[in-house]
Amino acid sequence: MPDNIVKIIDLVPGKVAPLATVDAGALTPEIFQRQFLNKHVPVLIKGAARHWRATQSWREPGYLDALCGDVEVKMSRVFNAAMAQDYKLETMKLRDCFAQLRASPDDTTYSIPATAVPAQWVKDLGEYAFLGPLDKKPRMYPRDRIFIYRNASTEWHYHPFDETITTQLAGSKRFSLFRLTADNWLPNSALIESKAHHRPDGARAFPADRPLTKYEGVLEAGDAVYIPPFWWHGVDTADSGIGYTLAHCFRTPAARLAAWKDPVTRRVFRQVAAKNKLAVPVALGVIAYSTLRRVTARQAW
Ligand SMILES: [Fe+2]
Repeated sequence: MPDNIVKIIDLVPGKVAPLATVDAGALTPEIFQRQFLNKHVPVLIKGAARHWRATQSWREPGYLDALCGDVEVKMSRVFNAAMAQDYKLETMKLRDCFAQLRASPDDTTYSIPATAVPAQWVKDLGEYAFLGPLDKKPRMYPRDRIFIYRNASTEWHYHPFDETITTQLAGSKRFSLFRLTADNWLPNSALIESKAHHRPDGARAFPADRPLTKYEGVLEAGDAVYIPPFWWHGVDTADSGIGYTLAHCFRTPAARLAAWKDPVTRRVFRQVAAKNKLAVPVALGVIAYSTLRRVTARQAW
């Protein structure tokens, strides 16, 4: 197979600014909640998992192979289902995937999309001390999902629900994030969702007079990034080795759930209304309750 590495971050033009960065040792649940969670501010957390066994042992040859058991996963040779004509997921034993990943040249892409952490791997994960009591069961996403890959980007997307801490356990990745508001939701969201950025002249379609500000940073093994809901994010690999990325989700506080002025809230509301008219009062109630909680806590959206 020819070189099929596709990097996606730079396909969407914008001004690049450094992602806020803190050392995990300096971050408490109180600081995390006040400075980041309650303001929807993404942050790169250096060394968030530096004490986990996974960040030490998983790169050792043969270590994880011995802990695969009979686990089966789905594996793709391209990263992006929407772009590739030949996208298909092949079900295979995880240990056979490893053999293929290792034997492949440096310019090939392999992606095992989000999957449950194999049971024998869980003991090598740890806690996030800066989450503490905030680490409640997520509403929509599984608590933990793992991505295993070589040279596989993650296409631009956002999450309407749940907070995400994404952690590099081995390998390094470049993260880029931006937030859209009612003023610039269109045309940016339409261009990205129609994959216009993958066309040869795609960057020219984005509004040049109002460039996006993309907050970017590189995660090394042991680092994590807080990805708030509503923030668009894209991810490229920063090396060509086998990498492991853990997505850990937790529950969004009531005050951060929804705001009528936010284009994501409006989109979710329209989707709910189109699917089930009876759910409209519930959806409006959630938006009103979230707004009330923010006003009571004197929090801005
Ligand atoms: Fe994501």
